Amino acid sequence: MSYLAGIDIGTTGARTLIIDELGNVVGSATSDYPMYTPQPLWAEQDPEDWWQAIILATRAAIEQAQIAPSAITAVGLSGQMHGMVLLDEHGAVVRPCIMWNDQRTAQECAWIMDTMGRERFTAITLNPALPGFTAPKLIWMRTHEPANYARARHLLLPKDYIRYRLTGEFATEVSDASGTVLLDVRRRAWSSKVLDALEIPSSWMPRCVESPEVTGIISAEAAELTGLPAGLPVVGGGGDQAASAVGTGIVEPGLVSVTLGTSGVVFAYADQPAREPQGRLHTFCHAVPGKWHMMGVALSSGGSLRWFRDTLGQPEKMVAGLSRVDPYEILTAEAATAPAGCEGLIYTPYLSGERSPYPDPNVRGTFFGLTLRHDKRHLVRAVLEGVAYSLRDSLELFRELGIPIREVRAGGGGARSLVWRQILADVFGIELTTVNVTDSTAFGAALLAGVGSGVYTDVPEACAATIRIVDRTQPIAAVQAAYNSYYQVYHSLYSALKPAYDQLAKINES
Ligand code: XUL
Repeated sequence: MSYLAGIDIGTTGARTLIIDELGNVVGSATSDYPMYTPQPLWAEQDPEDWWQAIILATRAAIEQAQIAPSAITAVGLSGQMHGMVLLDEHGAVVRPCIMWNDQRTAQECAWIMDTMGRERFTAITLNPALPGFTAPKLIWMRTHEPANYARARHLLLPKDYIRYRLTGEFATEVSDASGTVLLDVRRRAWSSKVLDALEIPSSWMPRCVESPEVTGIISAEAAELTGLPAGLPVVGGGGDQAASAVGTGIVEPGLVSVTLGTSGVVFAYADQPAREPQGRLHTFCHAVPGKWHMMGVALSSGGSLRWFRDTLGQPEKMVAGLSRVDPYEILTAEAATAPAGCEGLIYTPYLSGERSPYPDPNVRGTFFGLTLRHDKRHLVRAVLEGVAYSLRDSLELFRELGIPIREVRAGGGGARSLVWRQILADVFGIELTTVNVTDSTAFGAALLAGVGSGVYTDVPEACAATIRIVDRTQPIAAVQAAYNSYYQVYHSLYSALKPAYDQLAKINES
């Protein structure tokens, strides 16, 4: 029996997962790290924190698995996308990572689009420059931290920094590289045209491979620290969304996933690289060699519920502590006692600005329609519904583009809640399925390791060998009809409130 390891560098923590070749999880461990917000809407992490967390999680997962480390065949990496990690000539980190949910680069995005021309730029990258993406972060640093920029020699994405610590190699793979907007997404290679136009040295770019390809082996030093055997192959892996899609089986036309992590993502497989003309959906390379995917990314989905738990959920946290249950369980049970549609209360989940379908750092979270009748049950349910409406916005764009939607698979921490899954099914008006995999991102990375090391022939075969549907949630017709009406109101709020959001941003800036 072969064992495979998947390591995921998430937004709130790292996970190491060890599975056997049939997909049974034999070891799984996590370790958390902080995120820093030195200014409103900035988001940074210390790459050293990731590394220390991975050492802990990997040692713990191997111990839990009770297997000889030498029984592991290969390792795959996945991680939060778009983060900018820069190393100097000695391999030291130049500054903290500017993360995917950081919104400081609106001006730099405009500069990129003006410098290269929107049409020319998006014809290559298939996406506009958005504040979350990596290239604008580099330009921001060039302007605001020239001394740091002058020291930089290597650009890496979060998971690829961990690859560097594990193997000493500078490498990435196409799915994560797509999110830098420095990649020619059709050709699946760095774009010298974009790099030249933005005057970013091409020598900074890591080698870019297809996701299952082997990129290096675990070094003696990393073996000593992590417990993984020296010489173990490490494959490219995937950006967290592509890896999670592999771990959910989204590897053929007609399959769509909805993932509720900190962000909320609606993801569709694509045989060919299509483009949403206004850039409201992303088109990136898939972790399946030679294939692509389209996705809508809402920035604060699970993040909205976490915000609610941490700001208004103190009593629930206390009860949860005493009765040893998850505070989210108590909160979602409260939500279930409020009626669908929350008697007219609507929440917009734009707590960190938004990406899809409104690439707009000025937009904000809102509770709209509050009355004396509303209590906490309504507030928490409105959060769950608002997230579902925001993901429906992206799903509607898929429908407009004619992307086939045969099945929607729900995943991510938020989808563990039956209450939230039912709300999603009712708001989308479509059956949701759930698969046997819970930690789909690390699982997908492990499957890619299995493909790269020859345990499986290709990615679809790896998915077929390990992933199966375990649950189905049907929409309830009457509720679906009510949500259709509320969704129209939700959908109108962005354009109605846009002038007020912009005015607020101006006041806050002054
Ligand atoms: C994808 C994205 C997020 C992060 C963190 O474009 O920004 O999903 O990867 O999960």
